[in-house]
Amino acid sequence: MEEMTHPLIQHKITILRDKRTGPKQFRELVNEISMLMCYEVLRELPTELVDIDTPLTRTKSHYLSGKKLAIVPILRAGLGMLDGILSLVPSAKIGHIGLYRDHETLEPHDYYSKLPDNINERLAIILDPMLATGGSAVVATNFIKRSGCKNIRFMSIIAAPEGIKRMAEVHPDVKIYCGHLDQRLNAQGYILPGLGDAGDRLFGTK
Ligand code: PRP
Ligand code: URA
Repeated sequence: MEEMTHPLIQHKITILRDKRTGPKQFRELVNEISMLMCYEVLRELPTELVDIDTPLTRTKSHYLSGKKLAIVPILRAGLGMLDGILSLVPSAKIGHIGLYRDHETLEPHDYYSKLPDNINERLAIILDPMLATGGSAVVATNFIKRSGCKNIRFMSIIAAPEGIKRMAEVHPDVKIYCGHLDQRLNAQGYILPGLGDAGDRLFGTK
């Protein structure tokens, strides 16, 4: 697991947590944080030297090579992270995995999924701002692995130790990037101190 240390990310997460932050600013911040995190998550993308002509001379210069990307937001809240990522990698293909957590059992239920055809040839980045029990992350990763994809990373803005542990047990090969590792879950499965319900705060549904 890699936790982000950049002061800009930490500053924006503080405003995101604040209960006075409304949906418009919440959406803007989720996008900005995702873009800043994406910079770190993709730090090791391979490049190759290619020949190009500048207006002045011929030269060799770095160009992205190797696996192409698939960005896979978990609905609903993961959608809030998508535009920030796409502003950096606009040619990535996009998949969707629809999951909601049962409020009593905290078990994830799937209601929709669609992945790019050739996701098995891509590096898949799963997006979900909240990694709580880890149930949704495990189900989403299972689904992507069943499509043949072997190279998967998981991006969350806030994570609980319980979710990190569950993912490490079930999917030790999937590297997790989180904006901040919080303290624990409460009895209802919400992350403390957390930011509340990410989907409701993004879309103004509560
Ligand atoms: C939230 C969140 C994650 C999940 C995390 O979604 O966006 O997908 O809970 O919890 P877990 O780690 O315990 O599985 P929710 O089920 O509230 O659905 P929503 O995004 O549609 O609001
Ligand atoms: N899902 C959320 O949106 N928030 C939490 O704290 C836990 C799960």
